[in-house]
Amino acid sequence: MARLDGKVVLVTGGGQGFGRAYCLGLAREGATVAVADINEDTANETRAMVEEQGGRAIVVPVDVSDESSVLAMRDAVDQQLGGIDGLVNNAGIFPRIELAEITKEMWDRIYNINVWGSFIVARAASHSMRQRGGGSIVNISSSTFLTPPTQHAAYMSSKGAIMALSRALATGLAPHNIRVNTILPALTGTEGVMSEPGYQMWYLEQRAQMQLIKRTAGADDVVGAAIFFISDESAFMTGQSLSVTGGTGMQ
Ligand SMILES: NC(=O)c1ccc[n+]([C@@H]2O[C@H](COP(=O)([O-])OP(=O)(O)OC[C@H]3O[C@@H](n4cnc5c(N)ncnc54)[C@H](O)[C@@H]3O)[C@@H](O)[C@H]2O)c1
Repeated sequence: MARLDGKVVLVTGGGQGFGRAYCLGLAREGATVAVADINEDTANETRAMVEEQGGRAIVVPVDVSDESSVLAMRDAVDQQLGGIDGLVNNAGIFPRIELAEITKEMWDRIYNINVWGSFIVARAASHSMRQRGGGSIVNISSSTFLTPPTQHAAYMSSKGAIMALSRALATGLAPHNIRVNTILPALTGTEGVMSEPGYQMWYLEQRAQMQLIKRTAGADDVVGAAIFFISDESAFMTGQSLSVTGGTGMQ
């Protein structure tokens, strides 16, 4: 019996990077995974990879910043898989912008996807979880919250908002037997990070020197934390955050 047998888990941003790693890891533990992404092609690649390792997955296209799209995603998962037990609320963007260059438009774009998106996905999924008698939501913050680079004021504050949002959701959803916890991953060379101008391997290696464990992180480093929070092993934990950052902020 695997740790997540019988559970249906929705992963937003599941088409690449951390999202793909969560999908593969959760499926290895027996979960049926709904791979949700704005990019249907990469989401289909993730689905194929889950199936290759003997797991079960479906693809649900979504723009997490658009409420009608989010509700359609939730309904599609309900119809195809019978409901949602777990959510990894992972889709997010992280443009590097110098303080002086942040515009209202950029700020709103980051907040619409990272904060509003996380909120409406959690709210929509929680309705489905309530029908199943409960569930577990994992929100994604960031180590930039602990050691902020100057080009990340808008992104970092959105990830601080996620920490606060998680606590509010944990309080509001506890009566429905829904737990809400947060993971803070370290800077990791995912497809999204490596396509941002200014992110090169030497920079990631330099940032790794701010950790107690002085190596660059891989997407798989965070998967165990997500499995733990989705599984019943964390049944007595809610409103908590877990920094999976090699000891960032400890020195
Ligand atoms: N990579 C890092 O260093 C790092 C560190 C800490 C936290 N995080 C967080 O982890 C999460 C994933 O990051 P990543 O590095 O894997 O990014 P990534 O860019 O490699 O992958 C993000 C995925 O989200 C999807 N996406 C983007 N906007 C979307 C939208 N509006 N609706 C639906 N899907 C959308 C993309 O298509 C992509 O598949 C983000 O929330 C990010 O803030 C990343």
